[in-house]
Amino acid sequence: MAFDLDLIKEAYKNMPGRIEKAREIVGRPLTLAEKILYSHLDEGDPTKEYKRGKDYVDFRPDRVAMQDATAQMALLQFMQSGRDKTAVPSTVHCDHLIQARVGADKDLQEAINKNNEVYNFLESVSNKYGIGFWKPGAGIIHQVVLENYAFPGCMMIGTDSHTPNAGGLGSLAVGVGGADAVDVMAGMPWELKFPKLIGVKLTGEMSGWTSAKDVILKVAGILTVKGGTGHIVEYFGPGAESMSCTGKGTICNMGAEIGATTSLFNYDTSMATYLKNTDREDVAELAESVREHLRADDNVYDNPEKYFDQVIEINLSELEPHINGPFTPDLATPISEFAKKVKEEGWPQKLEVGLIGSCTNSSYEDLTRSASIADQAVSKNLKAKSEFTITPGSEQVRFTAERDGILQKFDKMGGVVLANACGPCIGQWARHTDDPEKKNSIITSFNRNFAKRNDGNPNTHAFVASPELVTAMAIAGDLAFNPLTDSLTNEDGEEVKLDEPQGIQLPSDGFAVEDSGYQKPAKDGSGVDIKVKDGSDRLQLLTPFDAWDGENLTDAVLLIKAYGKCTTDHISMAGPWLRYRGHLDNISNNTLTGAVNAYNKETDKVKSQITGEYGAVPDVQREYKAKGIPSVVVGDHNYGEGSSREHAAMQPRHLGVRAVIVKSFARIHETNLKKQGVLAVTFDNEADYDKIQEDDRFDFVDLKDFAPDKQLTVEIKHKDGSTDTIKVNHTYNENQIKWFKEGSALNLIKKIYAN
Ligand code: F3S
Repeated sequence: MAFDLDLIKEAYKNMPGRIEKAREIVGRPLTLAEKILYSHLDEGDPTKEYKRGKDYVDFRPDRVAMQDATAQMALLQFMQSGRDKTAVPSTVHCDHLIQARVGADKDLQEAINKNNEVYNFLESVSNKYGIGFWKPGAGIIHQVVLENYAFPGCMMIGTDSHTPNAGGLGSLAVGVGGADAVDVMAGMPWELKFPKLIGVKLTGEMSGWTSAKDVILKVAGILTVKGGTGHIVEYFGPGAESMSCTGKGTICNMGAEIGATTSLFNYDTSMATYLKNTDREDVAELAESVREHLRADDNVYDNPEKYFDQVIEINLSELEPHINGPFTPDLATPISEFAKKVKEEGWPQKLEVGLIGSCTNSSYEDLTRSASIADQAVSKNLKAKSEFTITPGSEQVRFTAERDGILQKFDKMGGVVLANACGPCIGQWARHTDDPEKKNSIITSFNRNFAKRNDGNPNTHAFVASPELVTAMAIAGDLAFNPLTDSLTNEDGEEVKLDEPQGIQLPSDGFAVEDSGYQKPAKDGSGVDIKVKDGSDRLQLLTPFDAWDGENLTDAVLLIKAYGKCTTDHISMAGPWLRYRGHLDNISNNTLTGAVNAYNKETDKVKSQITGEYGAVPDVQREYKAKGIPSVVVGDHNYGEGSSREHAAMQPRHLGVRAVIVKSFARIHETNLKKQGVLAVTFDNEADYDKIQEDDRFDFVDLKDFAPDKQLTVEIKHKDGSTDTIKVNHTYNENQIKWFKEGSALNLIKKIYAN
């Protein structure tokens, strides 16, 4: 058993009292999202009402889940916290590094050979620190979490944007950066701006070709890729009740495509049934005992406009299957209009590949519905015109589907079963293509379809639909095919139609698995050695950053004055650098290489104050580091916007950047800089940005008096001997100043645990 029943008992113990208090404080009935938020406050019992979309609030999540790409740096950092176990139950899932090439077994073996050192590292760290480890091939993080860990009323964070998948089982699950995971595992609270709420009322009932996927494809069309930002989407209504738990998971999963903080459904019978079917009868029993707290209060949904910031209503009885794309998941087209659109827009009509499965759509229901279509290809003597792949979300689903003869149906249609991993969904796909320059179309039941996402080819038009529709389209090989109305010509030259898909929500014989791929951590991990290969270029154990020497920072040189937009991608690029996410020194070779130098408007070309020559940013900074010369980065507005990746703060710190002075920060990056011990300050007078010259040196003359709410003074020394004295502001509180003094937040935690 992978899950921890005591954790759930503990979570439910405090829930009723806290919800009662929150209800009193806000003076009205509560939505489900509010109940989960207020029952997970860091402060324990609620003491005040939080303003949605305004207040930053500290929470105590119940769990952490990490995928293998993001877990590397998160765990390297956690190891520095001085704890011998994570503060909350946590898991690692090896799913992102497996490339789809020829089929499950060979691809898996090749990934193990190629990524062995990363897997060994993750496995040994997990074993040592009490973290559940899911081996490569065990499945995709979100499916495994749904099958094993999610529970109604749970608050969890995961280092992957589709973590909200667990909302299908009534969890409030949020995708975060590695830094947040480190905080929670190290015992610190997790900060989130109290989200606004969108209510989606589902009426009617789905039938025929329409599935849960079409709900979220429709919602994405309404709200667009930005419409959910800063919001939790709460689904309710009779249509929600009649939907399977895994269908709910699909909807919540793809809430990431509208930018939502997370999405969730109320606890209901479908969830209880799913829990029982996945060997968690005791969790279902516990959930039943607090059922009223796992649903919004009575009245809320009678008058949703009163309780939600925005309300959408969708009648499932009228909902058509949708196909979204290409290049963006919010370009939603109902199937009845799709063929026309394909022709009008000139999208390549020949469909080259259909791909089903992934963390979004690989439930037993999805597979059986798709298999009922695949079956017809065989029985009606149709030959699939497109290539077709199936990615099971977990070994449990794969094993059960094989036992029940479902995978064999795909096989007969000519489908290839890929490893239980992300594969083509994250671009881990060695796609065979004759002409990469040619525009081409593929259709998937995944969630994202941005250019290059699946196969790295900008000419690929990727569309997203339900797995059953993808299967039908793959048989037709034609993007303009509408299975609801059109017929196909079979191998005997006869016109045949595909019947509506038929699915089974859950296996009648229950789920089964021989080797789930789960490895329980050691009870006492003190004797476990962490495995990092000597000379590895992918992994590097971290050494703690130096504590502040207590002196004013003087004679710091300007490394770069960044001009205009400088996102975390500009500071630490992704793409080929993903390989080095677990090796701080190697990945530091991309530091600020995307930032535009204000003096020559070029990227990765800055003047060295040692040689007077221009060089790449990391090279110049490494010279400063070698000579022990501190440096400063200057930036414009919203510096560090974009992803929450902590590398963008760790890399400059590792290379010796001591302070960042900007017009304004993106909030998460500012916090990340603070956590890593970099002095993050803003110009009091924005116009002072213009005073900074290429050969400047900086003295922070009153750093010794660093205190909350107190400006700092910086003397800028120009090459011609003149100086400017400016004021800079900061947002450090008492505790954050301790982070700076100790060298990093983790150094402080370590000190606390040591005492
Ligand atoms: Fe993996 Fe794609 Fe899901 S990358 S976690 S299968 S969204």
